[in-house]
Amino acid sequence: MLDNINILILAAGNSTRMKSSIPKMLHKLSGKFILQYVINIAKKINKKNIFIIYSNNLVKKTINDKNINWIRQIETLGTGNAIKESIKKIKNKKNKILILYGDVPLISIKTIKKLISNISNKTIKLITAKLDNPYGYGRIVRKENNVIKIVEQNNATIEELKIKEVNSGIFITDIKYLKKWIKQINLNNTKKEYLITDIIHIAYKEKFKIITVQPKNKIEIMGINNKLELYNLEKKQQKEKLKKMILSGVIIKDIKNCYIRGKIKYGKNLVIDSNVIIEGKVTLGDNITIGTGCIIKNSIIKNKCEIKPYSILEDVILYENCSIGPFTHLRPGTIINESNSIGNFVEIKDSVIKSKSKIKHLSYIGNSSIGSKVNIGAFFVTCNYDGINKSKTKIGNNVFIGSSTQIVAPIKIVDKTTIAAGTTIIENTKTPGLIYNKKIQKHKKYWKISKKTKNK
Ligand code: UD1
Ligand code: MG
Repeated sequence: MLDNINILILAAGNSTRMKSSIPKMLHKLSGKFILQYVINIAKKINKKNIFIIYSNNLVKKTINDKNINWIRQIETLGTGNAIKESIKKIKNKKNKILILYGDVPLISIKTIKKLISNISNKTIKLITAKLDNPYGYGRIVRKENNVIKIVEQNNATIEELKIKEVNSGIFITDIKYLKKWIKQINLNNTKKEYLITDIIHIAYKEKFKIITVQPKNKIEIMGINNKLELYNLEKKQQKEKLKKMILSGVIIKDIKNCYIRGKIKYGKNLVIDSNVIIEGKVTLGDNITIGTGCIIKNSIIKNKCEIKPYSILEDVILYENCSIGPFTHLRPGTIINESNSIGNFVEIKDSVIKSKSKIKHLSYIGNSSIGSKVNIGAFFVTCNYDGINKSKTKIGNNVFIGSSTQIVAPIKIVDKTTIAAGTTIIENTKTPGLIYNKKIQKHKKYWKISKKTKNK
């Protein structure tokens, strides 16, 4: 049944109300392009016969999906014109056409399936909903319960403006009738556009059945025309998502200020404090706590990790039992193995830390591999960039690095080395022992003590 449907997504227009240099379709709702939501839904119905009508080349270029048939609307003369222009180019023999609006992103597959099932001939099925505030939407005008027309906000009478039932824009009908009706639409004088909604009255006069389908949740039919609508819809979408997470066992301290912009998978006993942003694809194990102000993007965090407040993790893998933050910045390519403790104002980039190490304060580690049971004091820096090349630092196991130490990469530090505070390392270390800055003699004394302790 789904095979006989062409899907046409309306994604052209001037986006005037967005007041933006970016087309409306490329604004993001919870981290994803508005249009992408609709494409994903269309693909669930029928992967092959998806047509998108667009006007701004940036939309086609950015979405960059070769499985879609892209049709350009040259003059953006309204939804009626958009469909008229594209329907000419839909040459295949599928007899039904499903119209989706690129700016109505949260329609669910369940509602669409309800819409496209059991369609008899000479029928239009459309999705409508009753909204407390129907302002801006086309109103569904009924006579003795039958839909007789849709009237747009600007053309409605005072009585019609009181109607709460609104048009989602989404409908399905026979392609051959749509082709015929579309020719009969006149230019709308108020909007100076051809309005697709005018076909409803034409179909009514031709004694077509006009059947409405309601979504389970009203946010499904909400359109985005300006940035306030974008904001409001994202807030509503987030609230729904977070409520579902809470009911599935997550503790979320502040629904209003927590954002999940992407796909999150999580285990048991997840606790998320206020002002947390989770973006992209994030996988969290069991018993994870995320402190206030954290941002976690495209990362994997295994069981029993604590991310303390104001830490940022991006493209990171974190193994079991780690403590991160507060104020830690883990940048792309960082792998932290189990039982590590990374603390205040530590930045790590493109590095691997083996297990049970401590990097607790004010350090930068880049392009490095750090062994197990390494202790790094405050103000440690791997100087990995000479202005042209990035170089690597390799630190073995059981290394102790005193505070205010720099390593001028490329450098290898062997296992069990102790480095005194204030040292600048410019050569590889070869045997376990002390590396120190000769100008600071007291390090010698310290080394003797530490050597003795180590030998015990
Ligand atoms: C439209 C409906 C309205 C409905 C509302 C739901 C019409 C005439 N009105 O109003 O009944 O309640 O959506 O959100 O359809 N587009 C083109 N080419 C154009 C103009 C628009 O492809 O020349 C596309 C837009 O990208 C958008 C869709 O059509 O995805 C709807 O256009 P828009 O201008 O947003 O219509 P609304 O005023 O929201
Ligand atoms: Mg709209």
